[in-house]
Amino acid sequence: MKADMEKMVSLCKRRGFVFQSSEIYGGLSSCWDYGPLGVELKRNIKEAWWRDIVQQRDDMVGLDASILMHPRAWVASGHVDGFADPMVDCKECRQRWRADDAKDGKCPDCGGQLTEPRMFNLMFKTFFGPVEEEAATVYLRPETAQGIFLNFANVMDTARKKLPFGIAQIGKAFRNEITAGNFIFRDREFEMMEVEFFVKPGTDEEWLNYWLEERFNWYINLGINRENLRLRQHTKDELAHYARFCYDIEYLFPMGWSELEGIAHRGDFDLAQHAQYSGRDLSYYDPDSGERFLPYVIEPSAGVDRSALAFLIDAYNEEPDKDEIRVLLRLHPDLAPIKVAVLPLSRNEALIPMAKDVHAELRTCFMTQYDDAQSIGRRYRRQDEIGTPLAVTIDFQSLEDNQVTIRERDSMKQIRVPVAELTRTLEAKLSGEPLDVLPPGGSYWLGFSN
Ligand code: GAP
Repeated sequence: MKADMEKMVSLCKRRGFVFQSSEIYGGLSSCWDYGPLGVELKRNIKEAWWRDIVQQRDDMVGLDASILMHPRAWVASGHVDGFADPMVDCKECRQRWRADDAKDGKCPDCGGQLTEPRMFNLMFKTFFGPVEEEAATVYLRPETAQGIFLNFANVMDTARKKLPFGIAQIGKAFRNEITAGNFIFRDREFEMMEVEFFVKPGTDEEWLNYWLEERFNWYINLGINRENLRLRQHTKDELAHYARFCYDIEYLFPMGWSELEGIAHRGDFDLAQHAQYSGRDLSYYDPDSGERFLPYVIEPSAGVDRSALAFLIDAYNEEPDKDEIRVLLRLHPDLAPIKVAVLPLSRNEALIPMAKDVHAELRTCFMTQYDDAQSIGRRYRRQDEIGTPLAVTIDFQSLEDNQVTIRERDSMKQIRVPVAELTRTLEAKLSGEPLDVLPPGGSYWLGFSN
C-alpha cells in the first residue's frame, strides 16, 4: 500500500525526516529542512548515485563547482532570456498559478477567470559584493549543469579522458517556482545530481538510449516498484530551450505521474554558447580521427529531494499485525537512514554493559541507533516505521551464551548468532543475503517454523 501525501508529510515530521523551513516563524514556502533521519536518507541517496555514476565507472569524473557564477554564463546558457514559466493570476481570488497547472483556463481553486499568461523568470538574483547595482547582480544557479560546461576545458586538460566521457556533480540549485506545494516535490531550494555526458556526434542516439535504460534501472535496483515508473518523451512544445530531445522518468506520486528525472539531449548548445560568449575554444581534438569538433551532450539530471520522496512513498507499507496496524518503510538497506538498531530486551542493569559493548562495536561499521526506552515490541515498531532493516536484541540468555538475536524488518523473522559472528552476519544480510543463511554457530529463532 502506497502512502498518500498527508501520511508521508506526517510521518516525515513525526519521525524527524523533514521539517518545514523556518517553522517557528510560520514557515517559508517550498523550503524544507532535513532532520536527523532525513539527512541520512539524502546522504545515502547521493552516495548510491556517486558510487554507481562516478566510483564504478572509468568514463566519469566528479566536480564541485561554485553556486555563484559569472552572470554572463547565464546569458550565454539562455537562462536569462529563456528560463521562465508562463504565469497567470486569478482575477477573483488573486491566486497565482503556473499556466500549465490551470489547463482549462480557469482558476484551479475557485474557478475564476485568469489573466493572460506572462513569462516569469525562475532565477533568484542576488548582489555580489557590497554594491547594490545592476553590474553586481549574480544568480543563484537554477541547475548545476552550467558549472560543468564552464569547466569542460579544465577537466579535459587535467583528467586525461577521451570521448565518450562524463562529468558528474551533486549540489544545490534554486528556482523561484511560481506555485509551491506537494511537499518536497517542488522546492525553491533543492539538490540535483547531474551528469553531462560528452559524446561524438553520430553516437548520440546510442548514448541517449544507454542512459535512459541505465537511469531507469537505477531506481528499480534501489527498490522502486517497476509498475510505479514510466518513461515519457517530451513533446516539442515542452522542450527546454537547450534540448533537442528529452525524456522524463516519471514516478506515480500521490498527485499522479510526475517527473522524477529528466534525460535530455542537449546537442552542442551549451559548449557552443559558452565558446561564443567567453571567446574560449571549447572544441575537442579527437586523437583517433585527427578531427576537432564540439561534442554532443546527453544529460541525466535527477533531483535528490524528489528521489527521496519517491523512495519514501514507494517504501511505505501498512500491514495488519494482530489487532494493530504495522507501519513500515521497506527502504532498500543502502538507503535506510539507520542500518542496525541495538535493543537491550529491557533496561535491566544486567543487560546494559553487554548491550553497550555490542553497540560500540557495531557503530564502527554501520549507522546504528541504540534504544532502550519502552517495550521491545514498541521499539521494533519504531524502527519499522523509520525503515531500519535489522535490529539486534540482547537478552538474558545472551549473558550466558554470548549470542544475540537479529530481527529482520520485512519478515519479522529472527535468527540467533554468536557475538563473534555478528558484524560479518549483519554485513552479509544488509548486502542481500537471505536471513535463513546462518553463520557458524547460528540458529533459527522466532518466526521460523523449523
Ligand atoms: N539540467 C537539467 C535540468 O535542470 P530539470 O528537468 O529542470 O532539468 C532536473 O530538472 C531534475 O531536478 C528534475 O527531474 C527534478 O528531479 C529536479 N527538480 C527540478 N526542479 C525542482 C524543484 N523545484 N524542486 C525539486 N526538485 C526539482
